[in-house]
Amino acid sequence: MAHPRTTRTTGPRVDFSESYDPSVLKGRSALVTGGSLGIGHGCVESLAENGVYVTFADVNAEAGQAAEKELKDKGLNVQFVQTDVSSWEALVAVFKAAVAFSPSNTVDIVIPNAGVGGVSVAHWLSNTPVNSVTNDPLPPPTRCADINYMAVRNTIYAAMYYFRNFPGKEDATHSKQIIFVASMAGYSPMASVIDYNSSKWGVRGMFWALRNVPHILGEGKPLFRVNLIAPTWVKTNLTARFQQLIEGGNSTVKMAEVSDCTDVVLRMASDEKVVGRAAAIAADKKSFDVCDESEGPGAAQVLNDPEYLKFFGYGPAVEVSKKPSEADSAKFLDSAASEKVPNPTVLSVEDSLKAAVPVPNAA
Ligand SMILES: NC(=O)c1ccc[n+]([C@@H]2O[C@H](COP(=O)([O-])OP(=O)(O)OC[C@H]3O[C@@H](n4cnc5c(N)ncnc54)[C@H](O)[C@@H]3O)[C@@H](O)[C@H]2O)c1
Repeated sequence: MAHPRTTRTTGPRVDFSESYDPSVLKGRSALVTGGSLGIGHGCVESLAENGVYVTFADVNAEAGQAAEKELKDKGLNVQFVQTDVSSWEALVAVFKAAVAFSPSNTVDIVIPNAGVGGVSVAHWLSNTPVNSVTNDPLPPPTRCADINYMAVRNTIYAAMYYFRNFPGKEDATHSKQIIFVASMAGYSPMASVIDYNSSKWGVRGMFWALRNVPHILGEGKPLFRVNLIAPTWVKTNLTARFQQLIEGGNSTVKMAEVSDCTDVVLRMASDEKVVGRAAAIAADKKSFDVCDESEGPGAAQVLNDPEYLKFFGYGPAVEVSKKPSEADSAKFLDSAASEKVPNPTVLSVEDSLKAAVPVPNAA
C-alpha cells in the first residue's frame, strides 16, 4: 500500500473535531516523559487504553508508581521508569527499557512532555541571590531551560537513534513519530518569564526543523513525522495555583481539561495524514490547528485572530475578548514588571522551586 505521504511532507490544515480510528495503535510502543501526572499521565492512559505498550519516564517516583499500579490493575500495558530527563544516561536507559517492553522491539511514538515552570527576570531582579563574600550576583537558575529545552532536545536525539536502529517490524503504513508538547507560550510573549517562554519557542523550533524530513531515518527505514500540541491553559498541578487568577473575576478564559489534550494527541498518533501540524488545545473540544506556517492558505492567520486568541487570554491585565492592542500589551508588560497586578505567568523563585519535584543538584 502506498504511503499516504508520497508527495507532500507537511499535510493540510486539520479539523481536530473530526472522528478518527485509534484502533490502528494497537500493539505499538510509546515513550512519554513526565508521564506520572498531568498531561503526560493523560497521554499514557489514553494510549494504553488503545492497546499501546507505554513506557513513561518521570522523576516523581511516588506518583509514577501509583499511576503504573492503577493502569496495570486495569489490564493496561504500561511500565514506569524513574527518570530525570535532564540526564542523558537516564534517557538512554529509559529508551532501552521502552524497546525491551515493546512486543516488536521498537519505539513508535515519543512524547517529550516533561516540563516545569520558570523564574521570571522580574522576580530574579527583586530576589537576586548573591555571593556572600563578593556580593556579586550568582548565576540565574537553569532548571527550566534544562528540562523544557535541553532535555526535550536530548529526548529527540535519543528518539531518532532508537527509531533508526530499532525500527521494529517492516511496516510502510506507520511512520515513527514525535508529538511535541509546546504551549501557547511558544506563540506569544510571557512578559519577563524568559526561560519558559523561550524554551517553548525552542520546542516549536525543533518541530519546524523536523517536520519536513520524512526520510531522515534513512534508506529502507520507516518514514518519520512530527506534530505539536500547544496547550492554552490546562488544569494540572502546574497551573493549580493560577486557576482562580485565570478563570476568576471578569475573565472569559476557560481552562481546558487533560482530556482535551489527549483527544488531539490520539488523533495525531493514529492518523498518518496528520503531518507537521500544530494544534492549540482549548476547552470544550475546541482545539484547533494554528496554521503554524509561513505560506499557503490560512498561514499564521489564526495566530492573530481575536476569535482564537480568546482561548489563551493572556494574563489578567489583557482584555481577552479582543486582539490585544499595543496599549494593552504595554499595560500588561508594566503590570508584570511591577507585579502590582497579580500575573499568573510569573512564578517566584521560591514558588517555582516548591512546584518542581526536587532532583539531585537541581538549580
Ligand atoms: N498545564 C498547562 O496549562 C500547560 C500549558 C502549556 C504547556 N504545558 C506543558 O505541558 C507539559 C506537561 O505539563 P503539566 O501541566 O501536565 O504539568 P504537571 O506538573 O502536572 O506534570 C509535569 C510532569 O513532569 C514531570 N517532571 C518534571 N521534571 C522532570 C524531570 N526532570 N524528569 C522527568 N520528569 C519530570 C513531573 O514530575 C510531572 O509528573 C509541560 O511541558 C508544560 O510546559 C502545560
